[in-house]
Amino acid sequence: MKIRVLGSAAGGGFPQWNCNCRNCAGVRNGTIRATARTQSSIAVSGADAGESVLVNASPDILAQLKASPSLQPARGARDTPLKSIVLVDGQIDHTTGLLMLREATKPWPIWCTDSVHGDLTGPHPVFEVLSHYCGVERHAIPLDGASFSVDGAVGVSWRAVALESKAAPFSPHREAPVVGDNIGLFLRDETSQRSAFYAPGLGAVSDTVWEHLRLADCVLVDGTFWSDDEMVRLGLSRKHARDMGHLPQSGPGGMIQWLDRLPSATRKILIHINNSNPILDEDSSERAQLREHGIELAHDGMEIVL
Ligand code: MLT
Ligand code: MN
Ligand code: ZN
Repeated sequence: MKIRVLGSAAGGGFPQWNCNCRNCAGVRNGTIRATARTQSSIAVSGADAGESVLVNASPDILAQLKASPSLQPARGARDTPLKSIVLVDGQIDHTTGLLMLREATKPWPIWCTDSVHGDLTGPHPVFEVLSHYCGVERHAIPLDGASFSVDGAVGVSWRAVALESKAAPFSPHREAPVVGDNIGLFLRDETSQRSAFYAPGLGAVSDTVWEHLRLADCVLVDGTFWSDDEMVRLGLSRKHARDMGHLPQSGPGGMIQWLDRLPSATRKILIHINNSNPILDEDSSERAQLREHGIELAHDGMEIVL
């Protein structure tokens, strides 16, 4: 199984179009050592390396495909190696790219939970809009721990883990969560028996989440914020990390402490990194702390083979 990180930033990307924070200004004008990143998405391929599954469709999908030769058309007048799409939530950064994929020549097989399906046919009716273009062939993601397989990732078994995080602001579930608003994905290659756990939006480490973090050879987890009040302190927003369903990295009960408890062989990678996060500055003390803890940062174009 190969996982290609298409976009490693959180909603807004890095730099964000209207953000003049130290990081965004610094990467724009070259005064900090940092790499620009697009919004949250990965592609997964299995035994047939010529096809892939897109996990989350970011507003940056077209630039991400342009930057990925293996995901470009090669076999016909209209063609794509992307066979299916899987969504971990209904948030803007994970779903608006679907509109950019409307020229598909057949209905997109799209896997999502019932809760996300409700949001994408109700308050954010992307599926309705797509029905006037290529159409959608919707598949329900099981939430009972059953494994499923997805066209485009041969020999990979998929399992959804319900997460405590947040539905999108437009969702009727934003302040009244239902199971399936946000999921993590446990992916296992049936040949190599190696696995990954992908959870770009993770608000709390439940027993089930912990079990999957421990089982995985590689974890790709919520790297949105360093501290709970990061955006408030920088004057960027009134929202705290925890209000948005993201577990911050630092402090008691933070992501670093959880990752420290994993076996030393586990590869630990932060993904979905917000532009306000000091870890984006390669010379920051926060980035040095991650290095000391053996924690990596995902970057666009990163490939993980398991
Ligand atoms: C999130 O992960 O909290 C959202 O994607 C934020 C956003 O929509 O910008
Ligand atoms: Mn997001
Ligand atoms: Zn910024």
